[in-house]
Formats: sequence, structure tokens, C-alpha cells
Amino acid sequence: MSPSAVLNPLLLLIAAALAALTAVKPAAADTISFELHHKFSARVQEWTASRGGGGGGGDLPAKGTAEFYAALAHHDRRLHGRLLAPSDNSSAELLAFSPYGNVTARIDSLGSLYYAFLEVGTPKQEFLVALDTGSYLFWLPCDCLQCAPSYNSYLNLTLNTYSPGNSSTSQSVPCSSSLCQASCPANSSCPYEMLYADGSTTSGVLVADTLYLMTEGGAAPRSVEPTVVFGCGMNQTGGFLTAGFGLFGLSINSLAVPNILASYGLISNSFSMCFSEDHLGRLDFGDKGSPQQQETPLVGR
Ligand SMILES: *[C@@H]1O[C@H](CO)[C@@H](O)[C@H](O)[C@H]1NC(C)=O
Ligand SMILES: *[C@@H]1O[C@H](CO)[C@@H](O)[C@H](O)[C@H]1NC(C)=O
Ligand SMILES: *[C@@H]1O[C@H](CO)[C@@H](O)[C@H](O)[C@H]1NC(C)=O
Ligand SMILES: *[C@@H]1O[C@H](CO)[C@@H](O)[C@H](O)[C@H]1NC(C)=O
Ligand SMILES: *[C@@H]1O[C@H](CO)[C@@H](O)[C@H](O)[C@H]1NC(C)=O
Ligand SMILES: *[C@@H]1O[C@H](CO)[C@@H](O)[C@H](O)[C@H]1NC(C)=O
Repeated sequence: MSPSAVLNPLLLLIAAALAALTAVKPAAADTISFELHHKFSARVQEWTASRGGGGGGGDLPAKGTAEFYAALAHHDRRLHGRLLAPSDNSSAELLAFSPYGNVTARIDSLGSLYYAFLEVGTPKQEFLVALDTGSYLFWLPCDCLQCAPSYNSYLNLTLNTYSPGNSSTSQSVPCSSSLCQASCPANSSCPYEMLYADGSTTSGVLVADTLYLMTEGGAAPRSVEPTVVFGCGMNQTGGFLTAGFGLFGLSINSLAVPNILASYGLISNSFSMCFSEDHLGRLDFGDKGSPQQQETPLVGR
């Protein structure tokens, strides 16, 4: 069996088919649901527990020996190492979220998406985001008018809420900014509103702040701290009221973080998401993949 036959089912490079929360425009009729399965993979449980959570309620699979986790982690690394074998020398250094690196996890109890922890602001604060290839905006629960409860009983974690006033590096994004896609008075903060295909919404104002990233694939990991624009999500409705995570949109738009990173010359305008059956995955920015790899172009909306 060739390596690519093994790897192809595990890698979907920027597959639009993965879109779960498609931002609604007329005639875009994908539907999504936030299914609440009370189910955790042992590995996801370990991942959340390792960074502070107790790992959720009482109904967890009891697979968790240290050896089991070590074997899984080794398996992940081996697959990823082969995936990034140097057939394309130009993408040697990638970027991933700091401090947990490229690791993502599928958390069924929060809906059928993959999630990652990332850090934003000064002092840095950690946030949980759903990774969504079907929409472009990155937003966080923020200065809440209406947000999900911050304590998440599935993860046994209290999730943070962003506040521009609590971050010394936070900047407002004025309506006059080229990134502002709303019509509003030039000197006011740029509002945003997103409607997703399941009817859930988020609205608030755009802000800019430091996103903590780290290099991967090069010699020693280096931190990279670009300023990115994201939504301060003050009012969420629908599925976003079930859990206090934010959304990290990965589709094509000048506001999408991969595009912002590429506009700074930090990465090529690409990323890879990789999924494995143990519910863990990988997200790397700037990964152009290998020439033999199957690709699905993203269609901008
Ligand atoms: C939840 O996490 C806390 C520590 O953060 C821990 O003390 C507690 O036992 C955990 N509860 C459950 C049900 O896992
Ligand atoms: C990548 O670099 C290696 C050694 O530097 C070289 O042998 C190989 O041909 C390069 N591959 C490509 C696709 O450029
Ligand atoms: C912002 O800081 C204040 C004062 O320390 C604190 O009470 C509040 O909870 C913080 N807000 C957020 C969203 O972290
Ligand atoms: C915006 O500009 C108008 C006219 O120049 C001024 O009256 C108003 O106070 C400004 N608003 C803010 C928030 O700076
Ligand atoms: C992704 O993270 C794993 C560890 O979690 C690491 O071994 C691997 O090298 C990372 N990928 C890249 C491209 O650096
Ligand atoms: C939140 O947004 C919804 C949908 O746009 C709206 O109906 C509701 O009035 C808003 N709530 C607040 C507190 O602004």
C-alpha cells in the first residue's frame, strides 16, 4: 500500500465539503445542526484534561491508560510526519496556534466540528474556537449582551470571554478601515453581523488584537505574534448559546485569519486540516501540501 493510499482518507486539504456553519447568503442552503452527543473520545478527554478541564461529565469511555495515549500520540505524529515529507521544500515552516500547537479535537458534545484553543490579547487569554471552513469570520464571545454561559459542563471548563478594555493591545477597527464591510459613520467602530445556515447569529464590533502563533516544521519553534482582526461577539443567538466557544472561520475573505497572515507575508495563503479517527486533528497555516495530494479548491462566497 502506498503512503498516499493510507493518508488520503485522513487528510482533506481545505475541503469545502467540511463546511458546517456556512455563512448564509441568498441561495446558500446548507443546513447544520448542533447535535449534542454525550460522547467523548478518550483522546479528546485527555486533551481537555491536560489543559485544565476535568474532562466532562460521568459518561466517558474508560480507555485512558498512559500507554494508550502515548500510542495514539505517536500514531498521530508518524502520520503527520509522513504527510509533511519534503516533496515541497517551500513550505518548510508552518504556523500553528500557541501554546498547544497544531492540535485540534473533535468534541461531539459541542457539535460535529473540530476545536482548538488559541490565545489572544495582552495579557494573553485562552479561548476555545470551533474551526469552520464554511464561514470566514473569526469571532469570540466578548463584552456580552447575550452569550452562552462561560462554564461548560461537558468540558468541565470555564471558557474565557474577550474584553477589548482588558487587553492593552486591543484596537478598535473604525468604519473607515478597508476591512470594514458595513456601512457606518467613518469614526465609529465597525459593526458586524453574521447569520449562519442553521439560523444562529453573532453580532458585535470588529476589533484588532495580538494572536499568539508558533512556527512548526523549522528548527526551534519561534513565536509569531501578528495583530489580527476579529469580531467582538456581544450578541449570539441559536446554537452559539449552548457553549461559550468562538468561531474561527477559514473560508476565503479578506477578514479570514489565514488571509490576514498571508497579507503580512507570514505564510502562503493556505492551510491544512487533518483528521484522524481518534477525534484528534491538526491545523497548520501555510501548509501547501505535497504535489501528489488531492485538493479541493475553496470557492469564495
Ligand atoms: C472539574 O475540574 C476541576 C479542576 O479544574 C476538578 O477539581 C474536578 O474534579 C473536575 N470535575 C469533574 C466532574 O471532572
Ligand atoms: C527539496 O530539497 C532537497 C534537498 O535540499 C532536494 O534534493 C529536492 O530535490 C527538493 N525537492 C523539491 C521538490 O524541490
Ligand atoms: C475585565 O477585567 C475586569 C477587572 O479585572 C474583570 O472584572 C472582568 O471580569 C474582565 N472581563 C473579562 C471579560 O475578562
Ligand atoms: C465622529 O465625528 C463626528 C463629526 O466629525 C463627531 O461629531 C463625533 O463626535 C465623532 N464621534 C466619535 C465617536 O468620535
Ligand atoms: C504538530 O504537532 C505535533 C505534536 O503535537 C508535532 O509533533 C508535529 O511536528 C507538529 N507538526 C508540525 C508540522 O510541526
Ligand atoms: C441579539 O440579536 C438578535 C438577532 O439579531 C436580536 O433579535 C436581539 O434583539 C439581540 N439582542 C440584544 C440584547 O441585542
